[in-house]
Amino acid sequence: MTSLLRLIACGSVDDGKSTLIGRLLHDCGGIYDDQLSGLVAASRRFGTQGGEVDLALLGDALEAEREQGITIDVAYRFFATPARKFILADAPGHEQYTRNMVTGASTADLAVVLVDAGKGILTQTRRHSYLAKLLGIGRVVLAVNKMDLVGWDRARFEEIAGEYRSFAEGIGIPQVTAIPLSALTGANVASKSDLADWYHGPALIEYLEQVDISQNAAGPGLFRMPVQWVSRPNVDFRGYAGTVVSGTVRPGDQVIVLPAETPAEIERIVTMDGELAEAVSGQSVTLTFTRPVECARGSVLSSAVDLPQKGDQFEAVLHWMASEDLLPGRQYLLKLATQTVAAVVQTPKYEINVDTLEHLACKTLGLNAIGVANIWADGPIIFEPYDASRDLGGFILIDRLSNATVAAGMINHALRRSINVHEQILEVTPESRAALKGQRPKLLWFTGLSGAGKSTIANIVERKLNARGRHTFLLDGDNLRRGLNKDLGFTDADRIENIRRAAETACLMMDAGLIVLTAFISPFRAERQMVREMVAEGDFVEIFVDTPLADAEARDVKGLYKKARAGELQNFTGLDSSYETPEVPQIRIDTMRTAAEEAADIIIAYLERL
Ligand code: ADX
Repeated sequence: MTSLLRLIACGSVDDGKSTLIGRLLHDCGGIYDDQLSGLVAASRRFGTQGGEVDLALLGDALEAEREQGITIDVAYRFFATPARKFILADAPGHEQYTRNMVTGASTADLAVVLVDAGKGILTQTRRHSYLAKLLGIGRVVLAVNKMDLVGWDRARFEEIAGEYRSFAEGIGIPQVTAIPLSALTGANVASKSDLADWYHGPALIEYLEQVDISQNAAGPGLFRMPVQWVSRPNVDFRGYAGTVVSGTVRPGDQVIVLPAETPAEIERIVTMDGELAEAVSGQSVTLTFTRPVECARGSVLSSAVDLPQKGDQFEAVLHWMASEDLLPGRQYLLKLATQTVAAVVQTPKYEINVDTLEHLACKTLGLNAIGVANIWADGPIIFEPYDASRDLGGFILIDRLSNATVAAGMINHALRRSINVHEQILEVTPESRAALKGQRPKLLWFTGLSGAGKSTIANIVERKLNARGRHTFLLDGDNLRRGLNKDLGFTDADRIENIRRAAETACLMMDAGLIVLTAFISPFRAERQMVREMVAEGDFVEIFVDTPLADAEARDVKGLYKKARAGELQNFTGLDSSYETPEVPQIRIDTMRTAAEEAADIIIAYLERL
């Protein structure tokens, strides 16, 4: 069986990466890339030896393909020699595409880092190498390209190789092999060139064929399989499908189903091609148990010898990949293996300068920044540090509204308090507290611009509920900001924290059995959605107090718009801070047509219908 090497090619723009990839595909015998085989065959036909014109064509074709958006993310190229098969992840070199590198590198055994001999080591070279290291790649081939343009100057090659080696050592990449080559002419790519008689190492393909990657996989490891889905074609057969990410599993093995930590015994290993006596890391299989056990998508099956960790708070390295900055405090979706939870990133501890490796103080992370932050998940997840498992230690963050992937993350370690804090079960339940008051708790969430009339209307509603014998409480933005939220200002991050605390407080009050009214600008959809999801369905009533900015400003009861216009107040909602209009509020009050009393009656009538 020929072995498989997964590699990622990375380099800065114009380092000649496309040419090198074209060259690799061309010079290796058995290409098995559907998309490209036609092209390569054509270039073979016309140029037989793979002359410069053909390679440039091939490179251009790759570039064109990318520009047309055919390969938006990483392009995977497949090629083979008699000695080995290769899967090459081609990560575009533009700054904004670093995210592709993360995708490509997370499965790679080795990185080929391209450097232009004329230009030497660039920021991109360092950034890509650092990311490769973070993603667990311990081996780099430094391809010093365009050596023909510097006259195969040995001193230049050694200067670049030396500089790179000391950088690589600094970031903890132990194995660097530097190869002088010319992708354009093919010198030192498939075979050694006479032009560099001073170079005694292997040509690039020779090296890739021979490099020993057996130690890369951290040993066979203990059995782990995140459950992707549960198949139940009939009552007798319930199968748990997924990919074994480490270790081995056999019928008869005792495993533990997490998070519940229930023991189970493997009965059968089923695949499309029949049953197996054993499944190993990398195989996708369906497992059945000897007796029914609670297990669902997102569960993790583990060897009973040692379990992965369970927790809801951990420290992670984050690579921010969105053009919008990270918003500490905002909930994102965190996907790790087959688990998905809501999670909040705390203010980063530091950002890492990839050139100097310095730790920089920061409040957020922008596009392409790499930093370290604590993350609080909404519920426990099963994970391992990234060092121990790329599969159970790597995750992505997704923006909940746009569904875009905004970050890739690697878990460093769990925070101790996440393991040590357990929920305390209380004997008197929210239901019994509400029953005593003879009501069903609700959350009436008023949102709108400053001066829209939220507090005014909420006050009248509370008074009317009170008169009807209801137990209520009104949480008002201005009031909370005088006490509990005294430390918060009006930056986006502070507003998010303001709403988080308000929502947590409201939930406690609902647990106490109260009908809670809140009056906060709450300008962002994401946080209002978060609150909606914190309470039982139907108990959250979003009330949009809709007053056009011009009218709120014209009223200017507190004189704040005037101050903001005069430049005395920053980040003022509607002026230099955004307000995201609710899309489908339960109730919309048009204050230009509806007086406050009437608005309150509409709300009361709505509640009575619930
Ligand atoms: S929120 O955006 O975080 O939800 P919140 O409702 O608590 O805001 O507080 C808004 C109130 O703070 C306004 O009604 C106004 O009285 C006052 N305020 C002071 N500065 C600002 C500002 N920059 N933007 C908006 N409101 C401000």
